[in-house]
Amino acid sequence: MKVLRTKQEVSAWADEQHKNGLKVGLVPTMGYLHEGHLSLMRIARKNSDAVIVSIFVNPTQFGPNEDFEKYPRDEERDLALCEAEGVAAVFAPNPQEMYCGDSSVVLQENKLSKVMCGISRPIHFSGVLTVVNKLFNISRADVAVFGQKDAQQLAIIRRMVRDLDMPIKLIGAPIVRESDNLAMSSRNTYLSAEDRAAALNISKTLLALQAEWPCNASWTTEQVKQRITEGIEGGSNGYVKLEYIAIVDADKLEERDASASLTSNTLVAIAAQVGKTRLIDNVLVG
Ligand code: PAF
Repeated sequence: MKVLRTKQEVSAWADEQHKNGLKVGLVPTMGYLHEGHLSLMRIARKNSDAVIVSIFVNPTQFGPNEDFEKYPRDEERDLALCEAEGVAAVFAPNPQEMYCGDSSVVLQENKLSKVMCGISRPIHFSGVLTVVNKLFNISRADVAVFGQKDAQQLAIIRRMVRDLDMPIKLIGAPIVRESDNLAMSSRNTYLSAEDRAAALNISKTLLALQAEWPCNASWTTEQVKQRITEGIEGGSNGYVKLEYIAIVDADKLEERDASASLTSNTLVAIAAQVGKTRLIDNVLVG
């Protein structure tokens, strides 16, 4: 497995793969890899010939009071995990290499990024789109795999690829959960035992809602929201505080009418504060 530090090395590596008739599959990550990331690598291997994983904690997608500095990092362990998954190359640049020190051009999405997480994280998706676009260009990837756990991110990246006619195939991968059903996230490492016990009300409530469909298909979205609030905030005695509940069209992220029933292709997503940690989770219904 090659460990590449510069953009030039990655593009030369990708050109070489293409010259040999191989399809390049990209898995963008911020490192501190877990089973969810490994599942993305396995999907990338099935859908391409040479997989490249990027490991880069992208400063431009963190707000001023967010966890950029304390975001967990363990490059040695990450590289060993990538190697064990049969990854062909890892791109692990530093911020200076990625952004040239004085970059001044960013990508901006103006609709899907203004709802849900975009409300409390106003610069986040611009940072994500900018770095993802750069990674696509640098790696010349034919295919890229992203997790459905970040459902809003995936929808916005799909929109970017569509609107800017980017020559890349996107694959969305199912959420991988811990044995207690907590959605896997590098940020789970921040949770205390008390946080974690309370956080389980999130997956419990969302998975029950998903399992009960279509029996609950006649519920209005207002009723669904009530049920989620009771399950998550009520279930944790107020320890978990919901930031939002979104019941939206899975592709357009447009809010379903409050009196509408729980129709198919609906994304039910939440963000919540659990102690000092902000978590997100979602299910697709229908
Ligand atoms: O999902 C993530 O880990 C990040 O947002 C991504 C896509 C790697 C961009 O930094």
